[in-house]
Amino acid sequence: MSIRLKVTLATVAIAALAVGAVDVTTFILLSDYFDRRAAASVRQVAHTAVETLGSGHRLTLETFASSDRLVLVEVLSPKGKVLQRLGTSEAGKVLLPSDLLSHPGRARSIEVPGSRGPAFEVIAVPAKSGSVIAAVSVKNEVSTLAHLFRLNFTVGGVVLGLLAIVALVVLTRSLRPLRQIATTADAIAAGDLSARVAPAPRRSEIGRVETALNRMLAENEAAFAQRDATEERLRQFLADASHELRTPLTSIRAFSEILGDNPRLDEGERAKFLGIIVKESERLTRLINQVLDLAKIESGAAEWHSSVIDMREVLEDSATAVSQLFKERNVKLTVEVPQNVPAIVADRDRLVQVMLNLLSNAAKFCGRTPGAVTVSLAPQGEFLRVQVTDNGIGISAADQEVIFEKFRQAGDTLTGKPQGSGLGLYISRRIIEHFSGRIWVTSRPREGACFSFTLPIVRGPALVKAA
Ligand SMILES: Nc1ncnc2c1ncn2[C@@H]1O[C@H](COP(=O)(O)OP(=O)(O)OP(=O)(O)O)[C@@H](O)[C@H]1O
Ligand SMILES: [Mg+2]
Repeated sequence: MSIRLKVTLATVAIAALAVGAVDVTTFILLSDYFDRRAAASVRQVAHTAVETLGSGHRLTLETFASSDRLVLVEVLSPKGKVLQRLGTSEAGKVLLPSDLLSHPGRARSIEVPGSRGPAFEVIAVPAKSGSVIAAVSVKNEVSTLAHLFRLNFTVGGVVLGLLAIVALVVLTRSLRPLRQIATTADAIAAGDLSARVAPAPRRSEIGRVETALNRMLAENEAAFAQRDATEERLRQFLADASHELRTPLTSIRAFSEILGDNPRLDEGERAKFLGIIVKESERLTRLINQVLDLAKIESGAAEWHSSVIDMREVLEDSATAVSQLFKERNVKLTVEVPQNVPAIVADRDRLVQVMLNLLSNAAKFCGRTPGAVTVSLAPQGEFLRVQVTDNGIGISAADQEVIFEKFRQAGDTLTGKPQGSGLGLYISRRIIEHFSGRIWVTSRPREGACFSFTLPIVRGPALVKAA
């Protein structure tokens, strides 16, 4: 059964109970009131009769002119003989209960055959000599009650019918958005991720559900789009990586074969070919390491060895490590470090990894000769800031955030793909953020780039604890 029907039935049932309770209460109160009024009326008639007889007068219909419902008055002798009887045409229908005289003063209702409910109110009261029996009609009250019952029944029925119609209409309208939500859910299940529910007034409960649902659907769609984009980049990376892997492997193999086939090669050539083999092996190792690193960081399995670090040492070691590369590329490297540098806590090797990537990028993207790269170090508030500035090709504003994503390289990678996999900056950012720092770039195309990162300075007890 639909919610709509259930709620309508429940509403009508509750309303029917309420209407029924009001009707029954009204009926009981009114019939009680009528009973008391009939009893008072018949008592009044009997009292008038007793008074009149007591004053020595004879009873006539005139005596009871004030009562509009008199039916019967009987005057009985002490032995129960009817001395006088006067009444209306209905008097014949009154069948007096046999024990009426034995309960004097008690009014009671009696029925007549062929009609439902009480018809007369009768009473026997003692008189001066003997007793008086009086009966009045309660026909009007009974028909009023019957009329009231029918009226209540009809009005109640009409009201409940209207209530059912209104409830159905209101519920149908109110629940329409729910049906739309179900339709939208079906569409999404069928693969249409762009399906949305039509906006409803935000203040209604369903409106709020719809807004929340639309927001969730938009987020889902964005997440799916992001996943697709990452998968696409991963596919692209696998294609690139296999190419990158194949190139050094091919030359390693080719030069090894040359060396193997020509044992009499002169020293100079032999050294040159061996140099190429070593360089290509390094390239291969670097690529493989980066992919392994990425996998570890992404899966949360990376190991971090934190210790108290003097950042000057990290910069100097990194500068030494890239000195040969810088020389080959004719790039001048300047390292500016102040005398006293506050300590930080991080993984030393990981920070060297970040620096090597920034420095090798700076050399790689120098673009002009002579290249100039400056590394500087300075405290900045609660942080220690490192900057690597070059005078190279720079990075467009659009690419400045993108290059920190995995497998992303600046510019049009179809026409001019830089050497490398586009993993260095992504891994660097993960490392810096792991130690609660921040890494970013500022640059103007063709005017060089400045990569900065900050790491929190550690002082006092935290420093002692880390050491
Ligand atoms: N100093 C820089 N000047 C200009 N562009 C840069 C510079 N550093 C990085 N980029 C741009 O950012 C991209 C991403 O750099 P990232 O270090 O992540 O990858 P990569 O150097 O291409 O490859 P990998 O470091 O994985 O070998 C680079 O391909 C380049 O387009
Ligand atoms: Mg790089």
